[in-house]
Formats: sequence, structure tokens, C-alpha cells
Amino acid sequence: MTLDLDIPWTEKYRPVSWNDIVSQNIAINNLKDFVKSGNMPHMIFTGPAGTGKTSTALIIAKKLLKKENYYRDLLELNASDTVRMSYVRRVLKAFVNQNMNPGEKNLKIVILDEADNIPNTVQQALRRIIEKTSSSVKFILMCNYINRIIDPIISRCAVFRFVNLSKEKIKERLIYVAQREKLHIPEDKAEKFFNTLFFISGGDLRKAINTLQMSVALELSGNIEINEILKISGFLDEPTLENLIDAFQAKDFKRARNIVNSFKSIDSRNFIRQILGVLPRIKSIKSKNLTILRAYMGDIDFRISQGADEQIQILSLIAEIVDNVNKL
Ligand SMILES: Nc1ncnc2c1ncn2[C@@H]1O[C@H](COP(=O)(O)OP(=O)(O)OP(=O)(O)O)[C@@H](O)[C@H]1O
Ligand SMILES: [Mg+2]
Repeated sequence: MTLDLDIPWTEKYRPVSWNDIVSQNIAINNLKDFVKSGNMPHMIFTGPAGTGKTSTALIIAKKLLKKENYYRDLLELNASDTVRMSYVRRVLKAFVNQNMNPGEKNLKIVILDEADNIPNTVQQALRRIIEKTSSSVKFILMCNYINRIIDPIISRCAVFRFVNLSKEKIKERLIYVAQREKLHIPEDKAEKFFNTLFFISGGDLRKAINTLQMSVALELSGNIEINEILKISGFLDEPTLENLIDAFQAKDFKRARNIVNSFKSIDSRNFIRQILGVLPRIKSIKSKNLTILRAYMGDIDFRISQGADEQIQILSLIAEIVDNVNKL
């Protein structure tokens, strides 16, 4: 069988029914019951990327809307485009006000993606739309950060928190995709391969499936070049990581800096996550200093997320680690 690499596997394997959703917590199971009962509140799905929010919303729409009216009764909007916010509002108003046959109370669903990107003033307008809309229109808002949604909207919705998927769940789904795609992954290497994909994904199933597909496209999975996969995904490969740990151990700032500088495709936040994982392997750091370093890494990660110069921050991190190492 030839591999079909044209369609992204994340789309090919987008869950189409509840059974496909790699369920993550009790809240999601409750959600099913809500939908079954037909008495659905407005909802907010919040949580990290690639954990099933959009997929779940689409499954709900498919279950509740009549097939023949699906496209008429479902409005999918992405709010990230704030320039066109007035457009979003106009479309939204037209949709919820659309004349329905008198007496007919068919359900309509509005899926509003990336709602946390809507400026607060516009959220106020949205809140009024939600308030005024007839009870047969249900809103599903999606966001990564619920603290960016204004309280009056939150209080009108049932909030469902999606979480990063566990190693077991990610592996389970990856193995499913691998089987469906008839991938040949040598048995003795499968465990390490899937563990690496999980590490790279950080619990984001979309990223995990994308990395799997990329490895296959680059023919890395047949002979499982874990180090290549790590590098392509913006992480240090294992030999480099070992070298770096050695340099830290030797309290050798220059060497550590050179190793990091030689690594062109480094992604600073990935780097931090990777170093955080191996800190305990640097034997000569006292446990008290480990705690300080971890806190410091949190700061660095935050600064980078706020736009600080990545190279300076990474250098600062290296200096701090070296500083906390006791010469053996
Ligand atoms: N819980 C899950 N069960 C099964 N597949 C999933 C799950 N979460 C994510 N996926 C896979 O990742 C893809 C993207 O998922 P989805 O669009 O639902 O994520 P999302 O939570 O809406 O992310 P974002 O916050 O980036 O919009 C899906 O097409 C599917 O292949
Ligand atoms: Mg989404």
C-alpha cells in the first residue's frame, strides 16, 4: 500500500464520534450526558491546543442538528481576526436573528473559536447578543485562556476544561493511527519512538500526530531516527544533550554556550522544557539549588513568552545553571 501523505493525518483522524475522542476527564463524560439529554446550556471549552475542543464541538453539532439543515443551522466563526470583528458581529447578529418559521423551534449552534482573542469591549457586545438570543440558539465558545473571557460571559456558560492528554492516551491514539496507516515500526524500537513523540507533543495530540506524519514523510520511522526527529522538531538530540550535561557538570560556561550556539534550529521554549527534564541528571547541583533553578526557568519561560530576546534569556539560563553547579 502506498502511503497517503496528502491529507494531514490530524484531519484524516479528526474524531467523528464520541468513541473517537480520547477522553480526558470526567467533565467530558458529563458533557456527553448533557448532549444526550438535549438540554444543552451555552458552553465554554477551555484548555491547551490540540486537546479536542474543536473536535468535540463539531461532534455535538453533528449529533444535535438535523443533517439536512446542518450548514444552515451551524455558524462557525473564528474570532482571532479582530480586524474583521465588525464582520463577525454582523454575521453573528444576522444568524441569530434569522427568521425561523413561526412555531418551529429548531436548534441552532454558534461555534466561536479563539474567543479569548476578542477585545473586552467586543465581548460586552457579544454578551448582549447571547442574552437577547432566543433559547434555541446555543453558543459554544472556545479558548486557550479562560481568564481572558469576561465574567458576565463565563457566568452564562457551563465551562468545560480540557487538559493536556496523558502519555498513555497520546500513545494509544498514535498506535491507532500507525495501525490504520500500516506503518512498519520495529517492535523493539516502538516504545522509545512513541515516548519521544509524546515528549515532543507535550500532551498536544495534534502536534503528536503531526510529528508522526512528518517522521513518516521523511522516512525516519522505518529505521527510527529518534535524534533526527528531535532535531527537526526543535529539540536537542540525545548526544548533544549528553554533551551539554557534561559541560554543566564541569562548570564550563564557554563549552555549554558553544554547544547551544552551534544548534541552529533550537526553539528556546522547547529547550527550557528539555533542560527542566534533565536537571536532576546534573549530579553536582544541590537539591536546594535545583528548586531555585526551576523557579528561575519559570521566569525565563515567561519572559520569552512576553517577547524578551530569546538568545539573551537562554544565555542567562546557562549562566545560572553553571553558577549553581558545585565543582566536583
Ligand atoms: N481528545 C482527542 N481525541 C482524539 N483526537 C484528538 C483529540 N484532541 C486532539 N485530537 C487530534 O488533534 C486534532 C486537533 O484537535 P482539535 O482541533 O479538536 O484541537 P483543539 O483543542 O480545538 O485545539 P486548538 O486550541 O488549537 O484549537 C484533531 O483533528 C485530532 O486529530
Ligand atoms: Mg480548536
